[in-house]
Amino acid sequence: MLYIFKNYDELSCKAASIVSSQVILKPNSVLGLATGATPLGMYQKLKKIYEKGIVDFSNVVTFNIDEYLDLDYKNPNSYHYYMYNNFFNYINIQQENINFPPQVNGKVGDLYQEYDKRIEDKGGIDLQILGIGINGHIGFNEPNQELITCTHITKLSEDTINVNNGFFSRKDEMPNRAISLGIGSIIKAKNILLLASGKSKANIIAKIFNNKITTSNPSSFLKLHPNITTILDEDAAKFVS
Ligand code: PGA
Repeated sequence: MLYIFKNYDELSCKAASIVSSQVILKPNSVLGLATGATPLGMYQKLKKIYEKGIVDFSNVVTFNIDEYLDLDYKNPNSYHYYMYNNFFNYINIQQENINFPPQVNGKVGDLYQEYDKRIEDKGGIDLQILGIGINGHIGFNEPNQELITCTHITKLSEDTINVNNGFFSRKDEMPNRAISLGIGSIIKAKNILLLASGKSKANIIAKIFNNKITTSNPSSFLKLHPNITTILDEDAAKFVS
């Protein structure tokens, strides 16, 4: 299913309505969550839907797709900080139902390979929310000759470092490693919600639709998924025919 909306606000409304419908229909849904600029509007709308009493997150389980390594959770650029300050602190999710790729304050934990098992034990991800990098990364699965299927530690590509550097006050503060769900873990989700907004995403979105599957564009593997909903604004959809 493909939706193209006029602007980011409408895209965010649609995304929030899909996530809340999922939770209303299955109150103990397992959600795969993403960070970055793109889903921010969706989280804001979800907060409002929650405040109106329309949706209850008390039995929802979440698994975040990635996190930087070598970065304190308290750093405003960490994805822990992002999730708590943009979403978790404002809804009634239970702390024990929140999952991030395992690490201890920016250091690699021993248990990261068990993250996939933890997801399976919860019944698998019902709805995985995804943004996309301009280089086609999903999570931090960067373009490469080979892609790793399960949760792994990854070196960030130059493209990603150049884009994400902008969020850090000092460029040398930006980590060059992360921990991410693998392509296989993402594809296993029962439903996927891919969001892209803005002109900078137009080329990579067109490649998903028009080109073959290749590890040089990890997002191209989404073509294999039977239940993917893509929500774009007109700028990101510019080259989609
Ligand atoms: P963005 O990031 O939403 O900030 O554009 C997406 C991504 O890199 O996956």
